[in-house]
Order: sequence, then C-alpha cells, then structure tokens
Amino acid sequence: MARHAVLPPGPKGLPVVGNLFPFRNDPLAFSTAIQRRYGNLVAVKIMNSYVICGFSPEYVRYCLMEHPRSFRSIQSEGGNLRLLLGDGLLTSEGDFHRQQRRLVQPSFHRQRIDQYADTMVNYTQDTLCGWHAGEEVEMASQMQRLTLRIILKTMFNVDDMKQIDTLGAAFNTVINQAPHRFFWLRGPLANLVGRTTKDQDEQFTNGRTTLDTFVSTLIQQRRSNKQDQGDILSMLLAASDEGESLSDQQIRDQVMTLMAAGHETAQNSLCWTFYLLAQHPRVYEKLLAELRTVLQGRAPTMKDLAQLPYLEWVMNESWRIYPPAWRIGRRAIEDIELDGYRFPAGTIFLLHQWVTHHMPELWGDPENFRPERWDPAHQQKLPQGVYFPFGGGPRICIGMPFAQMEVRLLLATILQQYYPQIVPHQHVVPLPRVTLRPRDGMHMILQPVA
Ligand code: HEM
Repeated sequence: MARHAVLPPGPKGLPVVGNLFPFRNDPLAFSTAIQRRYGNLVAVKIMNSYVICGFSPEYVRYCLMEHPRSFRSIQSEGGNLRLLLGDGLLTSEGDFHRQQRRLVQPSFHRQRIDQYADTMVNYTQDTLCGWHAGEEVEMASQMQRLTLRIILKTMFNVDDMKQIDTLGAAFNTVINQAPHRFFWLRGPLANLVGRTTKDQDEQFTNGRTTLDTFVSTLIQQRRSNKQDQGDILSMLLAASDEGESLSDQQIRDQVMTLMAAGHETAQNSLCWTFYLLAQHPRVYEKLLAELRTVLQGRAPTMKDLAQLPYLEWVMNESWRIYPPAWRIGRRAIEDIELDGYRFPAGTIFLLHQWVTHHMPELWGDPENFRPERWDPAHQQKLPQGVYFPFGGGPRICIGMPFAQMEVRLLLATILQQYYPQIVPHQHVVPLPRVTLRPRDGMHMILQPVA
C-alpha cells in the first residue's frame, strides 16, 4: 500500500512483524477483537504490508457483489490450494474462470441435483448400518467418508470404498497443512515466515501424488471407454467451449476442485450441526418432532425437504454460528475508493463470515443457537452481505444447492435413528484452516433414538 495513503484505524502491533502472530495464531479471536475495538473497516499491519478487514455488510456487498471485477481471489495467487487445484473454478480468474463456470454450471441445476438425493440417502443408510447404539465415533472422519463417497458417486460415478480413506487422508494433509503460510503477502520477510519444513513439503507432495494418480486414472479410464455416463466427468470430457476441447490438465483441475470443495465444507457443516444439537436438546426435540410428523420413520426424499422448514432453519443457524468458509480474501486489481479512503491496486481485503455472523449489532444475541430466528414470520429481512456462508456475487458457491440438499437429507436420515452426544470432557476447538474444522476431531457417542 502506498505510504502517503491515509488508512482506516487498526492495531499497529510489534515493530517489524506488526500483527503477524495474533493474526496467524488465532485469527478468529483476533479478528473479532479488532472489529470490537476499531470498528468495521480496519487496517491490520502485518510485517511491511497492510491488509484491510471489512466487517460490515456494505463491504461484503462492495467486494463480492457490486464490484467483483475490481478484485481477484487470493486463492488464485498461490498456496497449497492453488498447487492442488491448479486452474479449477475456485482458483482461476478472469475470462478463463467465467468460461469454466459456464461449462460446469449445468451440472448444478436444480433438476440435475435432485437426481442425487437417492444416492445421498442410500449412502447415509449404509453408514448407519456400520454404527451401533452406545458406541463412540469420531464424527469428522465419519462425515468425511460419507461426503467424499457421495461426491465421487454423484459427480464422477465412482464408488470405491477401498480408496475413500486414502483419499480423505491425502486431502487432510494437502489442504490443511501449512496453515501459517501467507503466500499472498509479498517480500522477503513474508517468504521467510511462510517457509515450510522439509517434512511438510514431503507430506504435501505425497498427498498430492495420491490424489493426482486417482484423478488421472479416472480420466484415462473414461477416455478409453468413451461411454457417456451422464455425469459431470462425461460432460467435461465431451465439452468443447467455442470449438476447443478441454485439455486433460484442465479436466483434472476441475475434477480435483469439485472433489475437494464438495466434501470438506459439507463434512464440517454436519459435524458442527451435531455439536450444536447435542448442546441444545430442546432444538433437537423440536427437530425430531418435525421429522417424525413428516417422515413417520421412513427415509427422506428430496420432495420432503419443502415440508421440513425447521430443519432448514437449523442448518441456516449452524452455518451462521460455524461458517465452514470462515473468511474470504480478495486483492484489488485497480484503485478502490471506499468510505473516503483510497486503496491502491494490490491492496488485500478480507471479509470475515466468522465476525460478521457474530456481530451483536446485526444479530442481537449472536452467541445463541436459535433456529427460530430464521422463521420468516419473525425474521426481519436480512440486508445482503449480513449472512454469506456461500460467498456472493458471480463467484458464489456453485455447489450451494447441492450442499443445501445434502446436509438436510443426511441429517434427516441420521437424526431419526441417533442423537449423537459429545464425549464428556472433550474440549472442542474450532480450527480455522481452509475451512473451519474441529481441531481434534469430534468424538461423539451414538445415543439411540427411543
Ligand atoms: C456447506 C457447504 C459449502 C460451503 C459453506 C461452501 C462455501 C463456499 C464459498 C464461501 C465459496 C466462495 C469462495 C470465494 O468467493 O472466494 C465457494 C465456492 C465454491 N464452491 Fe462451495 N461451499 C460448500 C459446498 C460446496 C460443494 C458441495 C461444492 C461442489 C460440489 C462446492 C464447490 C465450490 C466451487 C467449485 C467454488 C468456486 C466457485 C467459483 O469461484 O466460481 N462447494 N464455496
């Protein structure tokens, strides 16, 4: 940022490093604290740069919805995600991103998504077959297996239980490693702080090789058998956008992106929802009563979802309290005039679901898990940008309808049979990595439903 620019208020931090350590070590608490102390537009000094945190809805609207073309996603600039996902949708930019988005979008149309409902429910019932009343499970890995299996089947017509655990472990290593790397800050000091160890690099490379081998085998098999399987992989292989086919590398990047983005967030959503329900038995009872009235003990279908409003409010509230995507980063590609400040091109803006979703001035009692706040009868109309678990504007999560259907179907299936309880004395801590995950997993006891 240019030296002469007047900055919004913010913490100066220590000499040389600025706020590096609190920003890096506890970004949830740090961001919440600076919003309370300095307000809704805060300049945070980190080493020799500033990042601008915009906490209130107008900044979310400005960056994501009103001026998306003035910014690019910091995910596209580097880091482990970019190394893994290449030029996939999440990590590409500009015309290429828009072209790829047009290509992939039809696979996420409502009618298409509705066809996945049976797979989602059947696989959940399969998972339930392996569970036993009173046993302890580690819910994060259970939900990872389930959501990964669902994404592989629905997107790529693969059902290979043998590989699921290996792929899950590889994703955990690759995506969640090296959290301290600030690839988007520039300069020698940033490189020094962001350095990874040889061990970490090796783990990353091994994980990526496992995932790469899986995806390239999948593509080769499909190319050789040439049958249209009616899934997104067949569509990508057949696609020619303005006469030009996608290269295997481009297909690989999209497949990897959908695999990664399609399970990690849903897995965490489910974990956090079980956690919240375990702490709020009255909410669970109300939800169970709704499920019983509508489903009468049978498995849910896509059509049932419209009859299950309380389930939808529970999910909305869970995404508010524990947003799986907890922060979105953008870099300005041109000068930005905002609230009387002039930010030069290159400035980084951070938008924080975690903070905005917990601001008392927006939510009244943000720390209370209260699904009723989503009842349209009481709910005041939320201004755009107050609630953005799926982002917004042209880069809004393409998998949103898929995820909204998936988590509700899975919960409706599981919660009729079990009410998972938190293992006593467990200290559950949200860990902000690429997504917000429970730091030490989520150990739960499967209490059978009477
Ligand atoms: C609860 C579940 C989910 C949450 C909370 C979530 C959240 C998000 C958010 C916040 C973004 C925007 C990132 C940004 O603006 O920089 C995003 C983008 C994306 N999501 Fe999701 N997501 C979820 C599920 C899914 C699923 C199931 C899929 C695929 C099957 C998916 C695929 C993607 C892709 C490909 C993008 C990039 C879109 C683009 O830039 O055009 N997501 N997601």
